[in-house]
Amino acid sequence: MCGIVGYIGKKEKKEIILNGLKELEYRGYDSSGMAVMEKENDNIEYFKAVGKIKNLKEKTKDFTSNGQGIAIGHTRWATHGKPTEINAHPHYGEYSFVIHNGIIENYKEIKEDLEKKGVKFLSQTDTEVIVYLFENILKTETNPFKAFEKTVEKLIGSFAILLITKANEDKIFFAKNAVPLIVATNENNEILFSSSDAPIIGMANDAMYLDDGTYGEAEFGKVRFFKNGKEIHPPRKALPKDRNFAQKEGFRFFMEKEIYEQSDVATETLMGRIKNDQIHLDEIDLNMFDGINNIILCACGTSYHAALTASYLFERVAKTRTKVEIASEFRYKDPVLDKDSLFIAISQSGETADTLEALKIAKNNGLKTLAICNVDNSSIVRLANNVLLTRAGIEKGVASTKAFTTQVLTLWMVVLYLAHIKKTLSENELKNEVKSILKVPKILKVPDGLQDKIHRLSKHYLHGHGFFFIGRDVFFPLALEGALKLKEISYLHAEGYASGEMKHGPIALVDERLFTIALLPQNILYDKTRSNVEEIVARDGFVFAISPKEFDLSDDFIKTSDQKHYMCEFFEMLVILQLFALEISIRLGNDVDMPRNLAKSVTVE
Ligand code: M6R
Repeated sequence: MCGIVGYIGKKEKKEIILNGLKELEYRGYDSSGMAVMEKENDNIEYFKAVGKIKNLKEKTKDFTSNGQGIAIGHTRWATHGKPTEINAHPHYGEYSFVIHNGIIENYKEIKEDLEKKGVKFLSQTDTEVIVYLFENILKTETNPFKAFEKTVEKLIGSFAILLITKANEDKIFFAKNAVPLIVATNENNEILFSSSDAPIIGMANDAMYLDDGTYGEAEFGKVRFFKNGKEIHPPRKALPKDRNFAQKEGFRFFMEKEIYEQSDVATETLMGRIKNDQIHLDEIDLNMFDGINNIILCACGTSYHAALTASYLFERVAKTRTKVEIASEFRYKDPVLDKDSLFIAISQSGETADTLEALKIAKNNGLKTLAICNVDNSSIVRLANNVLLTRAGIEKGVASTKAFTTQVLTLWMVVLYLAHIKKTLSENELKNEVKSILKVPKILKVPDGLQDKIHRLSKHYLHGHGFFFIGRDVFFPLALEGALKLKEISYLHAEGYASGEMKHGPIALVDERLFTIALLPQNILYDKTRSNVEEIVARDGFVFAISPKEFDLSDDFIKTSDQKHYMCEFFEMLVILQLFALEISIRLGNDVDMPRNLAKSVTVE
């Protein structure tokens, strides 16, 4: 997730870009940059800086840009290539500059083609191909906008693009697909572009939120939009008045926004990693799994739950012995480590002290290591031999939601990748798994009415003496995650338990004031789990059942959809559990995004 802004007008362009980027810093801040072109001076000035926007501000302190002109700016969340100045946007060719949010899936093919034509690329990014492709097309197509249109036609993936070129000094060319791009105009003939509405609040009264496939050209006082070669007129929507509200994109809390974002970020996680019914993990060494007989998954908190979930998949699908370690325990247990084990560290922040130390122990013992992480250039990413970024974008809510989703998805891809290498699945089985994983982004979309329903039933759960979240197989770690979400933001006591274990002790706690949240998927161990839930019902426990199959015995019930794969059911139930925790916390008046006693990144032991 990156942030982009653009401006055409007479005001000081540097300030507008810097202020806009500051508003978008929540979308990524490992590097930033801008390019500015003034009307009377056809030179394009550009600046780049690693780190937060304040570094770009420092770099541009002696620069001013007066008079009519155009400017584009970008704040980056690395997906391809490290957060260096070279990889920061804008990327430039010989006379054009581009900024981009998203992922160009076919960048390798375009790059190879251009390299054959003599183009020398500077960066490791996917973005750089856009500007060179544009200039290459412009060698034969004399109209710069037509060349831009042809460039966009060749791109596969997600993109919000702003491109400026000396071949057409007054204009910004733009295109949008699968990631947001907003365009606004005002009575001063200014044109504004942004990834979200926060940067343009106060500068325009309304804006156009572009649809996928829209592209166009803008100059002082005029914007033209196109789709499939035809001119279109996107509708205008009033802009919110409050910036803070806008940063949360209309949601009350970052956690709520992040729950709703899961469908989009899941698309980013999968993007470019699945082709022709196969998993392609180009970021990792081809020989990473050579000689590997065991997997060790190691993490803390929610990331530990992702690890537990993956352990079922590694064993069942990739037939590989898998151990899961809580990082803080692993550190001091003098673990026996064999070189035929692959050590996988999972972390949203990449800075969790316990996980980092555990990774060091594994490395020092000569194990191959893989980091599954959301933050590029974090300590864990820098240390591991191999890295898969989860691409969830910045997660602000302390209670992790979208990071977990993308961790599980990434791990599922690793499992399928390994299953393919080890041939533990037939071609058909692998195809089915891939078909299921591709369904996940859609499944993660919060259906209309779901949050309202959960809001209504959440009032039943404000008292009582505690919660048990129960499930079997991967629904056991999901139960643990549901319980962790609830306790973090509601401060109510909640436990996750394997359904079959209830009878070995915890069932003694059951009475009408003990809440059981039962996960009853149809694709795995339904009857067994149902029997465990009936044991609780028989003891007058208060049961909230979540299942695609009707369950008359429960006090509350949410019916899930008819999925064919248990992992698809897993993701659908995950969203329900996240919203359940959220709604209870809101009713209790707690600070959802910054719950007491917790921190987003736990860099202490
Ligand atoms: O950044 P990490 O994934 O390494 O963080 C691990 C835990 O601290 C984290 O998952 C924590 O449990 C969250 N607050 C859970 O919502």
